[in-house]
Amino acid sequence: MRIIETKTYEELSVLAADILTEQLKRKPDSVLGLATGSSPIGMYEVLVDRYQKGEVDFSRVTSVNLDEYIGLNGDHPQSYRYFMDTHLFNLVNIDKSRTFVPNGLTTDGERDGLLYDEHIESLGGIDLQLLGVGYDGHIGFNEPSDTFVVHTHVETLDPSTIEANARFFSSADEVPKQAMTMGLGSIMKAKKILLIASGEKKAKVLREAFSGKVNPRIPASVLQLHPDVTVIISEK
Ligand code: F6R
Repeated sequence: MRIIETKTYEELSVLAADILTEQLKRKPDSVLGLATGSSPIGMYEVLVDRYQKGEVDFSRVTSVNLDEYIGLNGDHPQSYRYFMDTHLFNLVNIDKSRTFVPNGLTTDGERDGLLYDEHIESLGGIDLQLLGVGYDGHIGFNEPSDTFVVHTHVETLDPSTIEANARFFSSADEVPKQAMTMGLGSIMKAKKILLIASGEKKAKVLREAFSGKVNPRIPASVLQLHPDVTVIISEK
């Protein structure tokens, strides 16, 4: 595991964008595993800026997102599909028909979860998976648990995650209680992983995740077992 520390969020965003840009130079038809939330917003801004300057090309990229809230369709401003459209997909030359986000309106989470994993396999797997981390150590929406859940599935969100994400909604009551998330097995199959996190609270979670034993109570700890993980953490 490679851990890079930066002073500011802006530096983190540029370094993360460098890693994605390199990936697309090396393999223009990469399958990118993408994340939402506040952590990657700066990185997406840098990538959009580079695209506008002709420095990065998304025309051959396929993307698969980590997660989506259950009950929200893609037009809902807090859905992760909407987030991806407005922060990246509508702003670069990616083919929208090759951008995949779990279906928040699923009526059969188990079936659709397995289909999502099969779809990722059929694409040849994820070349580079971007991750954030929650204050409880979740990656994707894999919350602390007694076991690691392998496949894409519907997860009930931890009260602390609902509270943390309430900042995007008008109240905590409006935050969906469940999300469809890639499983930890789906994430671990990615060829490379890039995790970005900011601030002391996240640094503490990551210290716990990476210094102790692999433990499903801190889902991010499973990354200790992956051969190619880069973590960028900023002080602020
Ligand atoms: C988002 C995701 C989540 C977030 C995590 C951190 O697609 O999978 O695991 O990465 O909740 O969120 P922020 O970056 O908002 O602190």
